[in-house]
Amino acid sequence: MNVSTRGQKAQASPIRRLAPYADAAVRSGAKVYYLNIGQPDIPTPEIVMERIRTYPGKYVPYSPSAGIPEFVEGMSRYYAQHGLDVKPTEMITTVGGSEALQFAFWALFNPGDEVILFEPFYTNYATMALLAGVEVKPIPCDSRTGYHLPPIEAIERAVGPKTKGILLCAPSNPTGTAYTAAEVDAICDLAKRKDLWIITDEAYREFIYDGTKHESPMTRPAVAERTVLVDSISKRLNMCGARVGTLVLKNAGVREAALKFAQARLSPPTLGQWAGGCSRGSRRFREPSLGSPRGRST
Ligand SMILES: Cc1ncc(COP(=O)(O)O)c(C=O)c1O
Repeated sequence: MNVSTRGQKAQASPIRRLAPYADAAVRSGAKVYYLNIGQPDIPTPEIVMERIRTYPGKYVPYSPSAGIPEFVEGMSRYYAQHGLDVKPTEMITTVGGSEALQFAFWALFNPGDEVILFEPFYTNYATMALLAGVEVKPIPCDSRTGYHLPPIEAIERAVGPKTKGILLCAPSNPTGTAYTAAEVDAICDLAKRKDLWIITDEAYREFIYDGTKHESPMTRPAVAERTVLVDSISKRLNMCGARVGTLVLKNAGVREAALKFAQARLSPPTLGQWAGGCSRGSRRFREPSLGSPRGRST
């Protein structure tokens, strides 16, 4: 009996492999600076903690596959504050940004397709690609330019017949680099000319410390339909364990595909949405699964 090739090839998280060494160093009395797993050190907002403590449901139901309406509507308002026009119907709530990434790979690419990534990149992208049968085409970025993107001509040269998409992560994990408007415009223009999808991972949208404005391809009308936005409350609210993310899809066909994946896994976390999607004042709890127009829970 053999484990599948996919199972054998999947990379164990190199980030998590560091943890036992860090634990051993702490036990030995060394001062350890954690540069490994992306768990913020900002406090989770008190209103979130209070909601966790005061969950009023008598049980924990499935939520609608696309998310609890109040949560999704809250995300839509959040996006408006950040200059993104996203209607509640253009989102699917996911199990963290991780599931949003996986759905994006499944919905956009066929096995054998290629996706361009800018290196160094978040290592799990390689596993997400592997699980979808997608080849990764890494383009190195240079520390001397602050890991900004190489000239667009160099990126264009990497686009081959199998290339079907470009994945941007900004601010980047692990470099922290936030791309300029000109860089994002150039990528959008290339995607349009070469007929590529854009995945924009914005899990760290608000982690910019030098006043640079966050630039999203999703705000560019010319490419909004070929862009899917991966988002997460894990980092922003320090709710990594709540496992709640969002996939924003303006393209109806891609949304329909992703919703089928969402329905097959039934439900994003009800309690995570309950805690993270609150607005001050909103203490209402609507049992979420029944009769939702946005996708049944099972
Ligand atoms: C760039 C990036 N995207 C997505 C994720 C996924 O985060 P989560 O699944 O906790 O939302 C991470 C987690 O570290 C990340 O660093």
